[in-house]
Amino acid sequence: MLLAIESSCDETAAAVFDGERMLSNIVATQTIHAKFGGVVPELASRAHDVAIWPTVAQALEEAQVSMDAIKAIAVTQGPGLVGALLVGAGFAKGLALAHRIPLIGVNHLEAHTYAAFIEHTPSFPFVSLVVSGGHTRLELVRDWFDHELLGQTRDDAAGEAFDKIGKMLGLDYPAGRVMDTLARTGNPRYHRFPMALLDQPFEFSFSGLKTSALYHLQDLEKQAIPLEGQLLSDICASVSESITEVLRIKTQAALEYTGAQSLVVAGGVSANSMLRTKMQDLCQHMGIQLCIPSPSYCTDNAAMIAITGWHRLRLGHQNTLDMQVYASMSEAP
Ligand code: KG4
Ligand code: ZN
Repeated sequence: MLLAIESSCDETAAAVFDGERMLSNIVATQTIHAKFGGVVPELASRAHDVAIWPTVAQALEEAQVSMDAIKAIAVTQGPGLVGALLVGAGFAKGLALAHRIPLIGVNHLEAHTYAAFIEHTPSFPFVSLVVSGGHTRLELVRDWFDHELLGQTRDDAAGEAFDKIGKMLGLDYPAGRVMDTLARTGNPRYHRFPMALLDQPFEFSFSGLKTSALYHLQDLEKQAIPLEGQLLSDICASVSESITEVLRIKTQAALEYTGAQSLVVAGGVSANSMLRTKMQDLCQHMGIQLCIPSPSYCTDNAAMIAITGWHRLRLGHQNTLDMQVYASMSEAP
């Protein structure tokens, strides 16, 4: 029985995994950031500090296990906000010490990918597209914890593009999910927003899209056209089309280049309905096995930390109590 804790950004999360079933998966989302239009790191740390024990207690209760039954603790080690990570890591270290059980540090991005194993069985080697609020990465995953980076974003992440354009549209942070809902009734061909770096197979750039959306909105404002109703849906659909089409094109290139027969799409943006449809069509067309986690395992959660920690432990990886957290992938051990 393994307890997992996630606190890298603005979700305090805990999960209990028995090696076969996810017995609980609790996520406490911090709402305080919405009015600031983005995550305020100091406020995130404080909110984690308040929520961590109630969240862990709820995960244990829902799984109907006591701390005595927990034989290992997995916790997000990075990348993420350092102050936020320290709350989860410090708490996990305390539990590991008090209960004399192994501590396993987990890479948040690897965990997004391995979330696919909660409900599916991707076969190695597979291509993984991780699309979240902080990252957009294409990787070839040869085996457990053997990842080759094929390409990543040069500037904004896909989720960041949704969130920043959503903010311009007057939507609350994080805007991805609302834009997804609005896009469902919109016309994706209302406006052709740019798709960058199509000549670079695996690299992404979304900052040009953001600027182009800004100009488009300024144009509408000059003409005194209100941003509402069908127009709002059409803009959301066209922005989503630009983001998801670039993701589809580059993922197809990665599948063709690597010859991998399985694809994992993970991270918060993989909850996007247009992206899911495009990836389903792509994989059906290419005869590729597609593994996308259920939406609750796509956005930040501790179940993904649990399954990753479980496999790390199985392979003999453990951390000592002087484990350090890290902010970026370049600092990952
Ligand atoms: O993986 P995640 O929960 O946190 C990070 O590690 O960043 O991803 C959060 C990102 C946010 O940018 C959010 O707007 C986006 O995922 N997101 C979506 C959807 N649900 C969440 N973007 C587009 N469509 C969605 N349905
Ligand atoms: Zn994440």
